[in-house]
Amino acid sequence: ASPTERDLDTTRHPTTGGTASPEVAEQAARRRTFAVISHPDAGKSTLTEALALHAHAIGEAGAVHGKGNRRGVVSDWMEMERDRGISITSAVLQFAYAETVVNLLDTPGHADFSEDTYRVLAAVDAAVMLVDAAKGIEPQTHKLFEVCRARGVPVITVVNKWDRPGLDALAIMDELTTRLDLHPMPLTWPVGVAGDFRGVLDCATGDFVEFTRTPGGATEAIATRWSADEARRTVGDAFTQAEEEYDLLNASGHGFDLELFLSGAATPVLFGSAVLNFGVRQLLDTLVALAPAPSARADVSGGAREVSAPFSGFVFKIQAGMDKAHRDRLAFVRVCSGRFTRGMVVTHADTGRPFATKYAQSVFGRERATLDEAFPGDVIGLVNANALRVGDTLFAEEKVAFPRIPLFAPEHFAVARAAVSGKQKQFRRGIEQLGEEGVVQVLHSDRRGAQAPVLAAVGPMQFDVAKHRMEHEFGSPIRLEPLPYSVARAVTPDALPQLENRGGAEALTRADGVHLAVFADKWRMSSVERDLPAGALSPIFG
Ligand code: G4P
Repeated sequence: ASPTERDLDTTRHPTTGGTASPEVAEQAARRRTFAVISHPDAGKSTLTEALALHAHAIGEAGAVHGKGNRRGVVSDWMEMERDRGISITSAVLQFAYAETVVNLLDTPGHADFSEDTYRVLAAVDAAVMLVDAAKGIEPQTHKLFEVCRARGVPVITVVNKWDRPGLDALAIMDELTTRLDLHPMPLTWPVGVAGDFRGVLDCATGDFVEFTRTPGGATEAIATRWSADEARRTVGDAFTQAEEEYDLLNASGHGFDLELFLSGAATPVLFGSAVLNFGVRQLLDTLVALAPAPSARADVSGGAREVSAPFSGFVFKIQAGMDKAHRDRLAFVRVCSGRFTRGMVVTHADTGRPFATKYAQSVFGRERATLDEAFPGDVIGLVNANALRVGDTLFAEEKVAFPRIPLFAPEHFAVARAAVSGKQKQFRRGIEQLGEEGVVQVLHSDRRGAQAPVLAAVGPMQFDVAKHRMEHEFGSPIRLEPLPYSVARAVTPDALPQLENRGGAEALTRADGVHLAVFADKWRMSSVERDLPAGALSPIFG
């Protein structure tokens, strides 16, 4: 039977399991919750598969990934999704590794890159930045990195595809420093140039870790450890060159410093080849050893919720219309504190209303499994979450509210109009709700009027979702007229008059009252900015 509103009958589900306990603190300390940030094609899917291979996936790893049917994880919950053959479904892969429970949150990329991709970074404790050895830092990686930096998420860097010809390792370190202002601290250093990957120098011990190919990389690569003396004898020049390069870096202060990593100023760097499963175990070991476990989360009152406090969590993504038959809505909740047990009744901080969690699930791709228990760092999927919006807090016993997830800088803009006359009421209601849910940002200006709001998005897919839902859910099909803007900044009110009647620029106001200046491109922005009061423009994400 499908979950329905009737199941929100709270009397049958007393609040349970929320008491502070040392066990919860212990479970939290075992968690590592992270996302991979990368540009399309850097190897994120391959790395995800390799991680699942190296670890014991708690869910059905075979159903989740698997070389042959990778495209099979694409879900088909929406017609448009099927049409385009892309996945809108954000996924959470949970697996056990050593004594830890690892939660890998997917960051949708490619054509499904959207504000959700950024929001995922509000729900992780660390990020792995995957860099293609031949391409260096690419635009999407750069954007996602900036979001990590703004949110204080520490980043581990993996240079991937070292089995192929690519840039010089030192040149990649230089890119990290100059382009991202991020101090690299290699934990391993490649032995053999890109394209001739023998293994890595373990920077901490000076040992050589030799990688041996397994056919197709389908199984875990064999890593053999040799002392430096042995490696100098057997590997020769390639090893001594690696030693020299690393010594050079180390002499200029690139040794490992945990504080610098956790503060976001520096990044540990590993070299590997996801497709050959080289370096994947080192990444897992690094996550376990260095990535922070869930910790107390700041709340809106200036305090912090300790992980051992009663249950709390916040919604970082809503997936609507996944199942046409039931029009169900799935809210992804990152657990911040306490033990979550399925069936417990939690309180929705915004409304003070109870929310029953009988249908809590763990979610990966189209696979959904009933979830009975979760701890800080875990992600739960709540079915039938019609009352929840992105950023909402849920708690048990002790009240708490977490800061909302900030809105990010949109890069796509379009005027929305009701395509059918006489549906103005549905149009207004629908647009307002989509804005509140964070499907798109809704911007207004006096000049454009209430009938023609501007929808703004990080990725164009958000427009497709908005269009689909306006027609099928709110009964008001819309027409979208693209606007030629690509850059947005927050702007101070005193600068607004100067933005009137400027070509390639416009001022718009967001629902939360923030004024945005939008521009055709960065060059247009620079030329307009010269005429504005100093400091009138500021970046939006954070
Ligand atoms: P993405 O999710 O980041 O978009 O990247 P994905 O894993 O799909 O990888 C993109 C391409 O790069 C794939 O090749 C994949 O096999 C390849 N790749 C990933 N990691 C490595 C690596 O370490 N070394 C090398 N040489 N290649 C790597 P494809 O031809 O597009 O697909 P496929 O047919 O090989 O699956």
